[in-house]
Amino acid sequence: MIKSLKKRITKISCIGAGYVGGPTMAVIADQCPHIKVVVLDINEQRIKAWNSDNYDKLPVFEPGLKEIVLRSRGKNLFFSTEINNNIADSDIVFLSVNTPTKLSGVGSGHASDLRWIEKCARQVALASSGHTIVVEKSTLPVRTAQTIKTILGSSSNKKKSFSVISNPEFLAEGSAIKDLQNPDRVLIGGEDPVSIEQVADIYRHWIDDKKIIRTNLWSSELSKLTANAFLAQRISSINSVAAICEETGANINEVSLAIGSDTRIGNKFIKSGPGFGGSCFKKDLLNLIYLCKYFGLKEVANYWLSVVSLNSWNQNRISEIVVNKLFGTLAEKKIVILGFAFKANTNDTRESSAITISKNLLIEGAKLKIHDPKVSSDQIKAEFNLIDNKSNYQNIYKEDINNGSWEKIDNIYDAFIDADAAIVLTEWEEYSSLDWEKISKLMRKPSWVFDTRSIVNNNIISKTDINLWRIGIGPN
Ligand code: UDX
Ligand code: ADP
Repeated sequence: MIKSLKKRITKISCIGAGYVGGPTMAVIADQCPHIKVVVLDINEQRIKAWNSDNYDKLPVFEPGLKEIVLRSRGKNLFFSTEINNNIADSDIVFLSVNTPTKLSGVGSGHASDLRWIEKCARQVALASSGHTIVVEKSTLPVRTAQTIKTILGSSSNKKKSFSVISNPEFLAEGSAIKDLQNPDRVLIGGEDPVSIEQVADIYRHWIDDKKIIRTNLWSSELSKLTANAFLAQRISSINSVAAICEETGANINEVSLAIGSDTRIGNKFIKSGPGFGGSCFKKDLLNLIYLCKYFGLKEVANYWLSVVSLNSWNQNRISEIVVNKLFGTLAEKKIVILGFAFKANTNDTRESSAITISKNLLIEGAKLKIHDPKVSSDQIKAEFNLIDNKSNYQNIYKEDINNGSWEKIDNIYDAFIDADAAIVLTEWEEYSSLDWEKISKLMRKPSWVFDTRSIVNNNIISKTDINLWRIGIGPN
């Protein structure tokens, strides 16, 4: 029998227990105690970690997350590998699986790899019963909902029916819980008004209806891509200005303050840095570019491509500056990398600028001492190993990075012994209060600190014999 479309939602499943699925479902469970929320994943290790009694072992590090998981887990929040059973009696299934950029075949280097989303849609088609609302949560190329609808619609079981909804996630890692608890907006795109309202009902438990935007499917999908493209564009813009500041003697922090005080521009998201990382910006820009090319919009594609190119250029220019300041060679030189995560307050390293910059230094023969409070040695190794697979569009070969060597260091001060330079790449709070006087005694002379995040205190460091390079700050 087909479930009533107006039925009260009592059970939600989410396929994909990653950086998006885990925190999003934890907050829904926390805010809606009457709804049973099950987060599903094929990765047994990941599910085991979500169920771990040691809350510091959760697979995702996010401020505030462990407290929420502690409150709801085992009550109305569950993590499981039993995918089919849980899909079968769910009113809503969120799809929150990985959608990385394709590395081979048609659209390689630009289009998203939809194999995981397709697999999920097939699984939902097979395992569901009655009426199921299927919600796209992962960032997806425009018109993916159509693919999902086609797969679901090809189910020959007449007792099943589906509505497809796009409900993109706008959380930023590091502030995910805050963003989920108090979002600027919730976007729900779809064709069936009843299903849209059923999804909206969930959010209305803690979010004002005025913040819930209803659109058609395609507007919702395109809004997610373009929101990320606009944000990424701001970072490439400010990083381009930082480079001009370094040449002219202007100060990027003063320029950011001056331009950001114009309410039309706004003061958020204009902090210069080593370049944007994270799983979304580059992937979404490449998706947008692919879409533009597909529709013959060459100039529009080139416009967005320049945002990606500027970002790569910015990452490479940081490593070039380091090489130049250290007399043009890094062979046998010890360099401390402060931060490997793509931003502070996350253990995520996907597309982190630290990967490209470290790789460039390894090619030059550097000995890297890598520190990060939340990133493991295995994760760094995995990122360096990935280079081989990505080489078809990045022209990087693993042999090249073997010119140098790297090790993860847990005690920051140990990393500085005999080091020639340190590069601040992630804005972890602890890097802003380092004891530079102590460090200057540990480093080899002449010693350098390269601050790409503007967090090192110039007044303190200028009292030592360390040379300081700061992003976006030119010679006086
Ligand atoms: C982003 C979007 O913000 C979020 O809405 C979307 O859902 C997913 O993608 P995220 O990638 O998690 O979130 O982090 P974000 O805070 O946007 O930072 C992305 C990158 O830009 C980081 O590498 C960060 O260090 C960099 N950044 C951000 C800057 O260099 N300067 C800034 O002013 C802001
Ligand atoms: P995101 O940042 O979008 O959350 P992640 O890579 O952190 O991406 O998480 C995606 C999760 O989806 C991974 O844990 C992966 O194992 C899971 N996943 C991928 N395909 C499937 C599938 N068919 N069934 C269940 N889980 C899946």
